[in-house]
Parts: sequence; C-alpha cells; structure tokens
Amino acid sequence: MRTLVGDLVACRLGQTAAGTLGKRLYDALQQSIQKGMLAPGTRLPASRDLAAELGVSRNTVMAAYEQLQSEGYLTTRAGSGTFVSASLPESDLSAVERIVSADVPSGQIALSRRGEQLLNRAGASQRQWGAFMPGVPDVRHFPHKTWHKITRRLNLRLPVETLSYSQHGGYAPLQHALADYLRVARSVKCTPEQILIASGTHQSLDLLAKMLCNPGDRVWVEEPGYWGHRSVLEINGLETVPIAVDDEGMTLPAGVAPPRLICVTPSHQYPTGAVMGLARRQALLRQAQAWGSIIIEDDYDSEFRFGESPVPALQGLAQDENVIYLGTFSKTLYPGLRTSYMVVPDSLTARLKVAHSELYRGGYGLTQLALAEFIREGHYAAHVRRMRQLYGQRREALVGTIRRELGAEFIGQDSHAGLHLILALPPEIDDVALAYVLEQQGIWTRPLSVYYRGEAKRRGLILGYACVEAEAMTETFMPVVHALLPLLAK
Ligand SMILES: Cc1ncc(COP(=O)(O)O)c(C=O)c1O
Repeated sequence: MRTLVGDLVACRLGQTAAGTLGKRLYDALQQSIQKGMLAPGTRLPASRDLAAELGVSRNTVMAAYEQLQSEGYLTTRAGSGTFVSASLPESDLSAVERIVSADVPSGQIALSRRGEQLLNRAGASQRQWGAFMPGVPDVRHFPHKTWHKITRRLNLRLPVETLSYSQHGGYAPLQHALADYLRVARSVKCTPEQILIASGTHQSLDLLAKMLCNPGDRVWVEEPGYWGHRSVLEINGLETVPIAVDDEGMTLPAGVAPPRLICVTPSHQYPTGAVMGLARRQALLRQAQAWGSIIIEDDYDSEFRFGESPVPALQGLAQDENVIYLGTFSKTLYPGLRTSYMVVPDSLTARLKVAHSELYRGGYGLTQLALAEFIREGHYAAHVRRMRQLYGQRREALVGTIRRELGAEFIGQDSHAGLHLILALPPEIDDVALAYVLEQQGIWTRPLSVYYRGEAKRRGLILGYACVEAEAMTETFMPVVHALLPLLAK
C-alpha cells in the first residue's frame, strides 16, 4: 500500500545517490522532519510497510527509525506506532527559520529583526506559473498586438510629464478611465481625484500601514488569509489579529478590542472563496463606523464571476468615509504589469498622494497612459469578458473532474468566481506533505493549512485553474488523484 510518507521519502531518496541506503534513508526522514514536511505528531508507517513500499530491507528502516528516536526526532507509543516527536531537537526555531539561518554564512551582514521576521514568514512561492499555481491568470492571452499599437502610438507623442517623476498619485487619464470603470463595473463611489495608482497591492497596503497606523496598532486580518496582507502589515510593526472566516467570509467576533484597520476580501475571500452577504457587509460597516476603524477592501479578482451577477464592492455601500478600496490589474491583465489602484476618501487624497511620492516616487507613465487608452477604447472590458468565459469553462472542467474522480464532498466552497478553488481534504490528511509530493511531480498546489496563522481548522489544496486548458484539465489533475486515493483508502 502506498503512503504519503513513503512517497515523500522515495522522492528525497531519489534526489541523492551518495552514501549507504541506510544513511540516505535516515537523511531523507530527518530532513523531512526538520523542514516541516513531516509535521510533529505525524504517524509513520510501520517499518515493515515502509520497507515494502520502498523496496528495502526491514532492518534498514528499523535502524533509521531507531537512530532518529535516539536523537529525539521520533517517539514510539506502545501499541499505536511511531510518530514524529511533538517537540523536536531544534524546536526553538521554526522550519523556515532554520532554512534562512542555515543559508547565511557566518561573517555575512546580519539582517534586522524585522528583516529576519519577514523572511522567516515569507509566503510567495518560488514558482508563479503552471498547473495548479494559484493567483496567476493565463498571461498567454494578453492582447499584445493591441497593446503594442497603443504604446507605439503613445511613444510618438509622450508628454514630458510622463517621463519625469509623478507627484499626483498617478496620471490623470488613467485616474479618469478607472473612476468611470469602477463606478459602473464595481459600484464604487469615486471621483478621478480619489484614485491613487500604485505598483501593486502590497505597495498600496504598505502606504496605508505607514500613513494610517502607529507601530503596535491592531489590524484585523482574515484567518485563513492572504500571506501578503500579514507580511506587509507586520513589517510595519502592526499587530495582526487573525479573525475567523466562515461561509460568508470574515466573522464579527464579540467582545474584542477595536482594531485600527480591518483588512478584508469580501467579494471573494482569499483563499476560501467565501462571498460576504449583504447583512454581514452592513454589520461590518456599522461596527467599523462605531469603532472609528478603517476597512481596507482588497477586491483583487472580483471581475471573474461566472454565470452570476457581480457582487458590488463594499465601498459602494458605505455611508461614511471609512472604506479604502484596493484594486489591481494583476489578475485581469498580468501580475508583471505591477499596476494597482486605490480609491481613498476625499479627506485623505492629497496627503496620501504626497506620501506616495515621498516614499516610492511614482512613475510608469507610458504604462499608465496605455492602460487609460486600453480601457477607454473598450479593450479592457472585452479582454475581461473573454477571460471570464475561459476561466468559467476551466473552473467547470476542474469541478467536474473532482466530482467524477473523487466526489462532490472534495469541492470546498463553490463560489463560481475567481481563479482558484479549494480541494477540501479530510482532517487527517497532511496537506503540506501532499503538496510537496505533487511538487516533485511538477504539479504546484498550495496547502490550505499554511494560510492559517494559528491552528489550521481545515485541510485542503488550493488549486489555481486559470492556466490549465479545459480540455487538459482531467489529465493534468490525475496526479493529484493518484497521490490522494491511497491515503484515503487507509
Ligand atoms: C488577496 C490578494 N490580494 C492581492 C494580491 C496581489 O495583488 P498585486 O499583484 O496587485 O500585488 C493577491 C495575489 O495573489 C491576492 O491573493
């Protein structure tokens, strides 16, 4: 019978040829434990089973287990088997901390504490393209010819201001085009003057953290939630408070201290896909207003809703100036464009524009003017429409494959939106180890449990389907089925 631990160890054994089989087996197990692939408490297969699975003698496995036990990596419980120890020999350091520390040769320039913290909790994947990498659109469909025509035309008559530094939070033509688009497509209440162009959501959030908060201020973030929110907020010295997410997105716990900011993805919660209903939205707005908290609405992928009417932005419902809306071209066009925007309350506009210029010195004039024309001439709406249709078909293909190959219960919340969905797993399945095994086969998924700051309440794999063609979906998904079925049969 195949086991996940067996797959993991076989992958690692295949990566090294040096040393005796016993030593390689010991190294494979020890490194899997140290790097967190085999989490504390994980039950290892019986030595006889692992030996049969790996095609080695039982004595070899028993020797490796005994060695690891004597070093404190494994413990045995009479009658129930061998487990990864709850407290590891180097348990004062997290797995990633060990990786980072190990990579710094002595004598190298030390990082600040917050620099270390940022690296230790870094969330971005090394790879940003391919099946089933979440968060990336199908960049192959970007209309290069149209874009090229626009940029060539603009290049011949570029106003001198666009070649210098921008001090106005972006260029006016894009601010006007976006205001018109956001009012219609997202029901956002705004004037062009309220729009500030930035180089990505992380930069927008960084500016807001610096300009609206003092070190130590509390910020609500979703649990599970987007790692990028936490990274940017925490490096600014803010205390992120994880707030549980349910079927309607961020909950509203009673009896908690008011936060300065509430960072939320109401139209398509990342990563669960939950959509916040009207009553919850109104309650959140009321609560924030009563506390004097500012809501930061990250509306990162809501252009993509399939077969259902769009969910309007929370910002459009607010009576007060207490919502800041964040949008991005990363999902609708491509992430490398590094262009995002925020809609800020009137009273903050001028001050945030000056601060943006002081900190980041706005630029990318040609890109911004080209985007303005791309929107004005209708190419943006046409591209979003085309991609919506394509992603809708891909989502349907993936949902159909999961239903057929595994069963409907494996589909997490089906919100009919966005570029990813969750393959829901039973709690006993180690989603980190499963993602690792799949990664060795060239399938990039992200384990749901790593999106929790505290104890993971649910297990699953986040599957980005945007760059997998519908016709290839079943074939591309089959390695996931093959890795999962033996684990489910246990
Ligand atoms: C919730 C959420 N917000 C924002 C972003 C990134 O936006 P940007 O590319 O504009 O930095 C992502 C990227 O995956 C995301 O998942």
